[in-house]
Amino acid sequence: MASVEEHGLVSAGQPASHVFPIGSRINEVGRLEVGGCDLVELAETFGTPAYVYAEEDMRARARAYIEAFRSRTERFEVVYASKALPCTAAMRLLAAEGLSCDVASGGELHLALRAGFPPERIYLHGNNKSEAELAQARDSGVGFVVLDSLEDIERLERIAPGQRVLLRVTPGISPSTHAFISTGQVDSKFGFGIDDVPRAIGTIRKLELVGLHAHVGSQIFDLEPYERLAEVLSAIGDYPLLNLGGGLGIAYSYDDRPPSIEDYADALLTGAPEGVKVLCEPGRSIVGNAGVTIYRVGNVKRIPGIRTYVAVDGGMSDNLRPMLYGARYEAEIADRVGGGAVCTIAGKHCESGDILARDVTLDDPRPGDVLVMPATGAYGHAMANNYNAIPRPPVIFCRDGQAREVVRRETLEDLTLRDV
Ligand code: LLP
Repeated sequence: MASVEEHGLVSAGQPASHVFPIGSRINEVGRLEVGGCDLVELAETFGTPAYVYAEEDMRARARAYIEAFRSRTERFEVVYASKALPCTAAMRLLAAEGLSCDVASGGELHLALRAGFPPERIYLHGNNKSEAELAQARDSGVGFVVLDSLEDIERLERIAPGQRVLLRVTPGISPSTHAFISTGQVDSKFGFGIDDVPRAIGTIRKLELVGLHAHVGSQIFDLEPYERLAEVLSAIGDYPLLNLGGGLGIAYSYDDRPPSIEDYADALLTGAPEGVKVLCEPGRSIVGNAGVTIYRVGNVKRIPGIRTYVAVDGGMSDNLRPMLYGARYEAEIADRVGGGAVCTIAGKHCESGDILARDVTLDDPRPGDVLVMPATGAYGHAMANNYNAIPRPPVIFCRDGQAREVVRRETLEDLTLRDV
């Protein structure tokens, strides 16, 4: 039974658990606060489910990245992987903190430009970019396109001759993470295998190749693969720029102890030759712990001797990760944090597999309670969908006790907006 103290969320302004946003606390009336905002009050004001972010948490992590690199090298760039939270308000804030931006589609490029990232600090990725996306990159003056295939090279030379590019390499390094989010191994739809790289580089005529790129996977705790990465890439040739991708893991459960941003920076820089500019592309580790999702409990089904299902008003439409990756999450009742009995959090979708969390301990859950799931800031809103025609939740930013809606809740009308 995890007590409040055990997971570090102690009352009256003490340091919060590493799973919750920085600055989270239990307030004087015993309710969880994020960004100084009482989550029970937020549920009343904005409804549920809702994605709630502590703005300061995202800013602090962006600064931690920049500081970690700045204290070790002059030549670096921190590129926010916008797929983790493709929300213009978040992107605007991270642009202001001095990050660059990784976009994986024309849609993300559109958001990055709208959010005010200088085009020359945008990196366009994609294993199958369309001609329209390449033209969009050219027309908006995108700084770098990351080449992923021979067809990509041919198309870009035709559409945007002179474009500065990086070449994506699958370095044959497979860290231990879920297979679906592991991308660095040879058997991958992304990039060029090490052996194919010289031939690919040899075909480039009208583009300016300035560097190499690799992304070995996501939610990684073992930094050893990163120590070898710069070495493996720099053995290919001398380029001024090495982009080593994202992937630093975060704490989803109270037991998770991910490496620090400082250790990650050390690992990336270990193998980098003198004078080379090192880039990284963090997504999850910037926004993941900054966000929580709040739900309202609708019913509690106790099956004696078997299980207690606590049903909430969201599910796989607002958080696909448990279903997609078997991802594990913690949960708490917003005004009774810590301990209780073992429960299963069920979503409201018409699928038995729509389970948000298994074996979490909740203190006497009741209909009407506000349930909080921490560490849902990355790839929650990003992968939200309309299964069962459920409108997608709003995104709420909190700072110093002030809450503002930055993405509104979808309405029933929105669901028919595209009907012709
Ligand atoms: N750079 C590239 C080229 C990527 O493909 C990715 C993630 C990142 C950076 C950012 O990785 P991060 O720092 O966020 O781990 N939907 C999955 C994750 C898929 C990530 C795909 N690429 C999830 O919910 O875990």
